Amino acid sequence: MFLWPRVLLVMGCIQSIRCKPKSFRDSIMVLEVNSSIDSNPTSIDESSSVVLRYRTPYFRASARVLVPPVAGKESWTVGWIQACNHMEFYNKYGSKGMSSWELPDLRDGKIQAISDSDGVNYPWYGNTTETCTITGPTKKDTRFTVSMNDNFYPSVTWGVPVSDSSVPQLSSIWRDQSFSTWLVAISQSTGEVLVLQTVRWRMRLHIAVDPEKPLGQRAALCEPTAQEPPQILGKNEAIPANALVKPNANDAQVLMWRPRVGEPVVVIPPKH
Ligand SMILES: *[C@@H]1O[C@H](CO)[C@@H](O)[C@H](O)[C@H]1NC(C)=O
Ligand SMILES: *[C@@H]1O[C@H](CO)[C@@H](O)[C@H](O)[C@H]1NC(C)=O
Repeated sequence: MFLWPRVLLVMGCIQSIRCKPKSFRDSIMVLEVNSSIDSNPTSIDESSSVVLRYRTPYFRASARVLVPPVAGKESWTVGWIQACNHMEFYNKYGSKGMSSWELPDLRDGKIQAISDSDGVNYPWYGNTTETCTITGPTKKDTRFTVSMNDNFYPSVTWGVPVSDSSVPQLSSIWRDQSFSTWLVAISQSTGEVLVLQTVRWRMRLHIAVDPEKPLGQRAALCEPTAQEPPQILGKNEAIPANALVKPNANDAQVLMWRPRVGEPVVVIPPKH
């Protein structure tokens, strides 16, 4: 009997006798949030003579949410939205130069973050386990879990991307990317956006490559072999406008060739 109001005091008030009824905002409760990066190190695959592939550990986030009774025909979607707010992704080719995947507007400071939606279900990261929609009227509380995961699984050419030569010259891979991931409730009727939780995470990677060695023996994973744990923020971060709309990072990214001497060249232009 006494547990319920105490829980409410911690989590915010619903129909507690101690609190005046508040807006719907105050009554969606996040019962539990988990976030982690798997402990396995990045794995490297040298089975192709054209590209090196690597697969980073998974970032995971999940939340158990309680939505109180929804009046009328109102409908709320609760789920995960992710945006990238920093990207360094360099592949060095000895003294020749480096290729780099870049998000031009983010790189140039024109935007703070770029959507990491699947490109179909904007603004959501996905629409399977990532979201849940509650359509009123509902008489009781609805409890559910929404979850998402992310990792990197790219291919990097052994040879310089802009040259006709397939001679392996890749000498190292550096990557440092940061993301904000929000648990959000959006009203389908009014478009109101409620940020329920914010997680920040980062993935860093350094792979040293000796292109002189035979295929299968070239690459070695350097620091960090363990990633920093994601941070569940005590105070929510506002969602920048570009985190909610097209284009997503996948469609906006360009592959540049940055020679040690000379002008940079666009190797793969943006898709959008
Ligand atoms: C969070 O992690 C704990 C411990 O692994 C697990 O029991 C619980 O079900 C998880 N909750 C969610 C919402 O994923
Ligand atoms: C997810 O989105 C796709 C593309 O819009 C759609 O075809 C599919 O039915 C959706 N799935 C769910 C579970 O909503």
